[in-house]
Amino acid sequence: MGSIYNIVVAVLLIASSWANAAPAAAGDNSVSSPSLDRRQTTSKYCASSGVCYLQIVTSGSNPTFRIAIPDGAAAPFDTLLQIIAPVSLGWAGFSWGGGMTLNPLTVAWPNGNKVTVSSRWSNGRTLPGLYSSATYKTLSSSKNATHWAVEVACTGCSRWSGGSLATSGSINTFAWAMSRTAVAQPASTGSSFSIHNNVGMFSDDLSAAKTPSSVFSQYIKSAASS
Ligand code: HEM
Ligand SMILES: *[C@@H]1O[C@H](CO)[C@@H](O)[C@H](O)[C@H]1NC(C)=O
Repeated sequence: MGSIYNIVVAVLLIASSWANAAPAAAGDNSVSSPSLDRRQTTSKYCASSGVCYLQIVTSGSNPTFRIAIPDGAAAPFDTLLQIIAPVSLGWAGFSWGGGMTLNPLTVAWPNGNKVTVSSRWSNGRTLPGLYSSATYKTLSSSKNATHWAVEVACTGCSRWSGGSLATSGSINTFAWAMSRTAVAQPASTGSSFSIHNNVGMFSDDLSAAKTPSSVFSQYIKSAASS
């Protein structure tokens, strides 16, 4: 009995330390942190709208990101992205291709009680420039005492020069970044901003992100622009 108990405890300890590795790492401040491990844990989140999202939640000091795509479509299709960030963050960014460079970046920051969303692209690891091949419709945007949040529909985030989202069970890699420093001109989509305090990466086959395409397009149509 004693030895079986010891083995069970040992297995549980190993399992819990492995499971906790990504969130613990994601909370630190370094740029090249172990949160670049692609195993950051994803889950499925379904909203009352009927739209289901693949979400990445790391630690409470990082943003939550949620993405949804229309089921059955092949790229290019529109994508949905929600960013829910602690109010202390100056900007949050999402990479549709899994790294800082050569793929569409969605960057968002608070502006008064709303959120500005900026389409970016970077050829190197410096301030990303504006990217006109992706366009956004803001479906909701808000800021309160604890968080700022935004949801956008993106046209141009599912396929780009050199890459595409895979929807047929293949693995996609995504990445995110966040900064504690406010951007220079919050009202301007062209604002400059400073480097991230934390970045992360995750891989997923997008099955949790698939929403029936009729629900998906109706949701985008009916959501009030703000
Ligand atoms: C002023 C703006 C920015 C600067 C100066 C900057 C600079 C850098 C540098 C120097 C690295 C390499 C760090 C290292 O390896 O230690 C890096 C990595 C990274 N950055 Fe940025 N960055 C900026 C904005 C962004 C934005 C807006 C995003 C996402 C939307 C982003 C996502 C990433 C990611 C995911 C990595 C790690 C993976 C990779 O190197 O591709 N960065 N960045
Ligand atoms: C503040 O905003 C966040 C993100 O939208 C939301 O989850 C939270 O419920 C809001 N808090 C209050 C008190 O309304």
